[in-house]
Order: sequence, then C-alpha cells, then structure tokens
Amino acid sequence: MKILGISTGTKNGNNDTMCRVALEAAKEMGAEIEFIHAFDWNFDFCTGCVACSRGLVMGKGMVCSRKDDYAAFYEKLIEADGVLFVDPIFESGATGLFHTLCDRMGPGHDTGLLMGAHFQMLEKTGKGLDKRYFNQKAISFVGIGGSDWAVRVETDHAMLAMSPDWKVINNEFFSWSKDIIMQDDKIERMKEIGRNLVEAAAEIAKDNEGMEFPIAENNKSYWKGVEGACPHCHSNNFYIFPGTTHVVCELCGLEGTLEIVDGAFKFKNDPSIVPNGQLEHAHDLVSGKKAHGDDIFENEGRLMNLFKDEEFKRRKAYYTAVVEPTPSPSKEA
Ligand SMILES: Cc1cc2nc3c(=O)[nH]c(=O)nc-3n(C[C@H](O)[C@H](O)[C@H](O)COP(=O)(O)O)c2cc1C
Repeated sequence: MKILGISTGTKNGNNDTMCRVALEAAKEMGAEIEFIHAFDWNFDFCTGCVACSRGLVMGKGMVCSRKDDYAAFYEKLIEADGVLFVDPIFESGATGLFHTLCDRMGPGHDTGLLMGAHFQMLEKTGKGLDKRYFNQKAISFVGIGGSDWAVRVETDHAMLAMSPDWKVINNEFFSWSKDIIMQDDKIERMKEIGRNLVEAAAEIAKDNEGMEFPIAENNKSYWKGVEGACPHCHSNNFYIFPGTTHVVCELCGLEGTLEIVDGAFKFKNDPSIVPNGQLEHAHDLVSGKKAHGDDIFENEGRLMNLFKDEEFKRRKAYYTAVVEPTPSPSKEA
C-alpha cells in the first residue's frame, strides 16, 4: 500500500508539516509513504495548446507539449494507491500551483477521453493505453488557511480528481491555521485523514481487481467526510442562475434546484433538464465522463476541419491584424 503526500506550501511550512502528520499516521498503519514538496519540482503552466486532447482524439496516446516534471509526477500518482494533497488556501481557493497541476491533469488524463483513445489505438495498432491509467485511486485534499477566507477551496481541490475519475475520501480545510502545529484537534484530524486514506486505498485496490479493463465501471462512493449540500458529490458550491431556483453543482455539474429540507439547503437534481440534470451525466461518473469524452471527440474533429475553412482563416487574419501584443519586458533582447 503506497501513500503519496504532496504539499504545495513553502518548504517545511505548515502544509509540508501537516502532510507529514498524515503520512506518519499512514505509515503507522503499515503503508509505504512518499512525500513531494511540489515547489522542488519543475511544473510549467498548461498553455492550452490542446496537444493532449488532440493526441487522444487522434489515437496517438498521452502527449503533452510541456517538457518538465509533470510526466514523472503523473507516474508517481498512478503508482500510488492513495494520494493526499495539502495546499495553502489562496484567495479563498486553491493556490496557483495547485491549479496548474489540476490543468495539467486536465483533458490529457481524462478517463472519458482515454477510453475513446484506448479503443481507437487497439483497433489501429492492437495495443491500447496503459492499464494503470484506468485504475481507481483514493485521493484526499486539505486546504490550510491563515484566516477564514476559504469557501471555494474544497471545490477547487476536488476538481483535480474529476479528470482521472479518482475517488475522493476526505476534502476539507482548516482556517486560522498559521499556528496549526500547536492545534492538537487539527493534528488529530490530519492523522484521521491519513488513516482514512489507507483504509479507502485498500478497499479500492481490492475493488480494482474485480473490474473490467479499461472501463472502471465503479460508481461506488468511498467518501469519509460529512455529507455535503450536494448529496451526490458532497460539494457545497453552487452556481445560482439569477432570479431563479435553478442551480448547477460547481463540482459534479448536475443541474436542479436547492430546496430547504429539515431546515437545511439540499440540492435535488432535476432529470427533466436534459442532459445535465440527469444523474448519469454527473462529471464524476463513468457514464458522465464517457458522454463528455464523446462530445469532445466530436467537437475536436469538427474544429480540425474548421481550421481549413476560408471564412475562418479570413476572420482570424482580420482580427490578428487589429493590434500586436506588447512584448514581455523580461524577455526583450
Ligand atoms: C497570496 C496569498 C493568498 C492567501 N489567501 C488566503 C485566503 O484567502 N484565506 C486564508 O485563510 N489564508 C490565505 N493565505 C494564507 C495562507 O493560506 C498561509 O500563508 C499558508 O497556508 C501557509 O502555508 P505554508 O506555511 O505551508 O507556506 C494567503 C497567503 C498568500 C501568500
């Protein structure tokens, strides 16, 4: 049982420390542990070049135009049975580095797209994608903040699990935590999060064995946190369409209404909203990922043809001529 902890905080700061607290608890349960201080690694921004989604749509496999440590990092992730991210809270949400890792995980590692690519490659070459890319995995997130600005962070974090379709076990945050090493209740909770991860990772590893490759048709929840306002994905963040009761869960993408049940807001998805009110369209279910993957395959194919269109080329040339970008002062010769 391998547990990988990743901190995106400062060197030996609170996030590193709390990650180590959880890893120690995991080790005490018999897990092999590894720790990555993400700032020691070299991660470039995702530039949006879409080489990854095109690579998958064209059946070329997993490609990325950035030549940095991300591919090695992804190897570490897929080799682990359980992954823990501990991330400082920045502007009520995740850090820029975490967002970068989330973007880099993005379309190029999305189960829905991987499935399409796998079958295409299998048909063309007789060899599909690596089985490990489809394995389920236990993943937990902790945000650590110096004040009480925090309410976007859980949703920002859980987004990273959406592309690879990994199972979120715990997802929480600690506010007013500059002195967290002195706060025993938070240290104890961190240990629990470490132990929960080991337990869930063991259960998922067992469930993986019985699953048909490459479609990890496992919609079981391994959640060990408190129930969220969205009973499906446990997110507490919703987009409210102004002037209506119509909402979208910002994490799983299900649409419906927020209703007061037993004195508390509860989200109810509305299947009459086609397709996003229908449970099978949730972003974290294999069926939802497959539908999303199919949509992207179709759309990318259409876009590749659009680039050859004369009217498209004329419009692009026209607007490009409107103004030149100002060069970066630090890159000027
Ligand atoms: C750019 C920036 C934005 C921050 N925004 C928040 C915030 O919105 N909410 C909060 O609770 N703490 C905020 N903080 C405090 C950090 O969360 C805190 O410094 C961090 O958890 C310390 O972690 P470390 O010791 O591991 O580096 C912010 C800090 C920085 C540098």
